[in-house]
This record gives sequence, structure tokens and C-alpha cells, in this order.
Amino acid sequence: MDIRTYWEDKIIGWEDGRYEFKTSRFQPLEWIANRSSASLRYRLASASELLVPEVNGLRVVELGCGSGLLAANIINAGAASYRGVDIAEAAIARARDRAAAIGIADKVQFDRADLATLKELDADVVFSLGLLDWLSDPELNHLYRIGKDAHWLHAISERRDSPSQYLHRLYVFLAYGYRTERYTPRYFAVNEICEIANRYNPRPVRVIRNRQLSFGALLTTLNADRRCQ
Ligand SMILES: C[S@@+](CC[C@H](N)C(=O)[O-])C[C@H]1O[C@@H](n2cnc3c(N)ncnc32)[C@H](O)[C@@H]1O
Repeated sequence: MDIRTYWEDKIIGWEDGRYEFKTSRFQPLEWIANRSSASLRYRLASASELLVPEVNGLRVVELGCGSGLLAANIINAGAASYRGVDIAEAAIARARDRAAAIGIADKVQFDRADLATLKELDADVVFSLGLLDWLSDPELNHLYRIGKDAHWLHAISERRDSPSQYLHRLYVFLAYGYRTERYTPRYFAVNEICEIANRYNPRPVRVIRNRQLSFGALLTTLNADRRCQ
């Protein structure tokens, strides 16, 4: 299973469907998934609300950035820099096109790279949406190691006994899980992430859950005053 090829083939259609940029040809399973993607749009808006007040003057890095949908918000909030990294060239090309179209190309940087190849980041804030679910334990450790003591915000899918999660598991299996050699999204307990994070970065962690995030949760050190729970 080649992870880069997987994302090169998937990311543009995924974004178009989940964020309602375009309706592609009718595919019943994707139609169901896209219809239930309000939680992902809410996740994007929530991450923006959490980051924007905090990034003035700071160097921000987004991992698994897709087409960099939050880059403009981060720059307009006064960040010193925004760097987006994604394994898929298709995502990076779209990110650069979007940045050029909205006039922020000279203020942002987009790099195609596998997270696993990155060295320590020059960042004050590191964030990701929809990336951790796809990482192995060694990759998760690497992500936190290279982030050093930067503030971070990462979205996860929390392991839960909920109808929406069972439906998600079924969709994943039927749509691609049966042929991707177990390369499917993971569901975490918050403490599993906190335990890894705290090996490299002792900052307190705040957990944001909300019905509109469904079984998603946002974990962040921003405005956090107690340890993960
Ligand atoms: C579910 S998508 C989320 C995209 C975007 N962050 C969003 O929320 O709209 C996951 C993204 O992570 C990227 N990705 C997956 N594995 C990666 C890796 N090992 N290194 C860098 N990027 C990766 C994919 O190419 C894809 O763009």
C-alpha cells in the first residue's frame, strides 16, 4: 500500500465532497459520506476560531494541510509565517493555486513531504486536521518529537460506542477498507494521544468535544490549564 499514491488519488475528490466545493459524478457511498460531513466543516471552523486569536506574530505549521484551507485566516490574524506540509502533490498544487488566487502566495509556504521525513520544525504553533487518524504510533511520536515545545492543536477521532461511529466504520470498510491493506483511519482514546504528546512536550492539554464534532475531538495546548483528561 503506497500511502502517497493513496492520497494523490483521493485528496481532491475528498475535499470537493466533504467541503461541498463541487458535486462529482454520483457515487452512492461517497454521497452518504459527504452528506454526513457537517462535522468536518464544523471542525474546520472550530480550529480557525481557536487558532486565530492566538497566532499573532507566531510561526505556524500545518501538517497534512490538504489545500491549506486555513492559511488565509492564519495570515490575516497576523501570524509571522504559515507553512503547510502535505504528502500529496495534488494537495500542495491546489494550495498554491488558492494562495495565489487570494493574494497571499508571498506570505505562505507549501511543501510536499511525508511527515516521517521532516526534521525538527521551526514553529511556535503546530496543527493538523484529519491527519492523526492516519498515523502509526511511530509516526505520532515523530510528529510530537519534531514539534518540540511548540503549542499544538490536533484533531482526532475518539473511539466511542456510538451509532455514527459504527456507520463510519462500515462506510470505511465498504468504500475502501477492504482493499487498502488495513490503511484505514484510527480511533483514539484521548489519553493515548496525551501520553505520547507529554513525552516530548509537557504543556497542559485542553480537550474540546461538541455534538457537532460527532465523535471528533480537538486537542490543544492553547489556553489549556490542566492536564489531559
Ligand atoms: C483527511 S485529509 C485532511 C486534509 C485537511 N487537513 C483537512 O482537514 O481538510 C488528510 C491529509 O493528510 C495528508 N497526509 C496523510 N499522511 C501524511 C503524511 N504521512 N505526511 C504528510 N501528509 C499526510 C493527506 O495527503 C491529506 O491531505
